Amino acid sequence: MVRGSWDAAARPAEQEVTRSVTTQLSPATTGRWTDHWTADTLASRYDEIRARTEQLAAPLSPEDQTVQSMPDVSPTKWHRAHVTWFFETFVLAEHEQRFAPYQDKYWFLFNSYYEAVGPRYARAERGHISRPGAHDVGDYRGNVDARMRDLIDTLDEGSLDKLAGTIELGFHHEQQHQELLLMDIKHVLSVNPLQPVYAGSPDPAGAPDRLGWVDVEGGLVEIGHDGAGFSFDNELPRHRTFLEPYRLGDRLITNGEWLDFMADGGYDRAELWLSDGWGRVTGEGWRAPFYWQQVDGTWFEHTLHGTFPVDPSLPVTHVSHYEADAYATWAGKRLPTEAEWEHAAQTLAGEPAPDANLANADTFHARAAGPPTGGLRQLFGDCWEWTSSAYLPYPGFHPAEGAIGEYNGKFMSGQMVLRGGCALTPPGHTRASYRNFFPAGARWPMTGLRLADGGASGDVNGGVNGAITGGIER
Ligand SMILES: [Fe+2]
Repeated sequence: MVRGSWDAAARPAEQEVTRSVTTQLSPATTGRWTDHWTADTLASRYDEIRARTEQLAAPLSPEDQTVQSMPDVSPTKWHRAHVTWFFETFVLAEHEQRFAPYQDKYWFLFNSYYEAVGPRYARAERGHISRPGAHDVGDYRGNVDARMRDLIDTLDEGSLDKLAGTIELGFHHEQQHQELLLMDIKHVLSVNPLQPVYAGSPDPAGAPDRLGWVDVEGGLVEIGHDGAGFSFDNELPRHRTFLEPYRLGDRLITNGEWLDFMADGGYDRAELWLSDGWGRVTGEGWRAPFYWQQVDGTWFEHTLHGTFPVDPSLPVTHVSHYEADAYATWAGKRLPTEAEWEHAAQTLAGEPAPDANLANADTFHARAAGPPTGGLRQLFGDCWEWTSSAYLPYPGFHPAEGAIGEYNGKFMSGQMVLRGGCALTPPGHTRASYRNFFPAGARWPMTGLRLADGGASGDVNGGVNGAITGGIER
């Protein structure tokens, strides 16, 4: 029984383990980060990241922040504490003089999955914990923030260089949890019959939009992070891969198109589905995307800014990989591989545009694609895009030694890769090489799909890798 681990007798061993696991990161083994941090820029970025988490939690009451509505969802206050624990465990424990944990049992309570750090409280029972409360977690955050600023201020240049990578990993870790905080509170609020609102307001309805196609020649291409700026270890090493000519849908699949799939028996036709997916359809009664509900013949969608009739012009969101794959089969197409997605993104789009629908847009929901551009719309932001690629190590991948090596590598089994980011992703936290991953049946993340098709059509007029034709096809 997990609660047995609260026994104080277990504490010294846990702390001993904790102090021995922290490792110095090196770009060769764990990823890349910004090259030139100073104490001022590191402290400034630290404050910025930490303040954003509190800003996202601000609309939520202590009661909101305590609820865990299903095992995959963590309470808001747990996210706020866990990202703090990350800095305390991987930075302060190793580098702060006269280090002492803020609270002994927090080591146990706010460890997520790091076996090397020691035992942890059961993930599915995080909602059972009423104390520390949301305000207590704020005190914990304030304490660690003050100690982190002191540490950064007192590091000499050599120590700063060594530690900057770990602190920067903490920034990107906290950004991941900022996105999860929003995905999770969306589910928490969805189970409340009062249909509470988190924040924001819906965009005006968009115009119906025909799907276009962008042709990509393929060939022997390189994917993986190129070493400029931060990346997680799972984006490395950059390597060659061969792509047959292919085409990608120029935008995400919409709610309107999903309604067509449903009207054509999409959730009733076993021949469209992967076997495991059909098992979920029949076993769990899937009839529509996760947050859709039919009332008096009208489909409504729960969003962070309220519950509204389904807007046909918006991208479909909160569908599993199984549903995305079934839709693609129904449409006579397929999902892109992660290599196809990344090659197209890096050659045709580069980095996310300033107006991408990421979390700084404060829409908290996918928005309509807008007019055709001849290129790929909605590539970054709106919805994470399911690919047909299993989440596996790249050739030559090596996780870091020690606890930090558990960050990504140990999850490379039974999950599918998603690309692009969503309306809840912090700006600066996604890029062409970013590999997100979830189990194929996951529906609570903000996920959608873009279609792919094999082989460029006969009217392709591009002659180099990445050439596009922008032809329209229904
Ligand atoms: Fe985490």
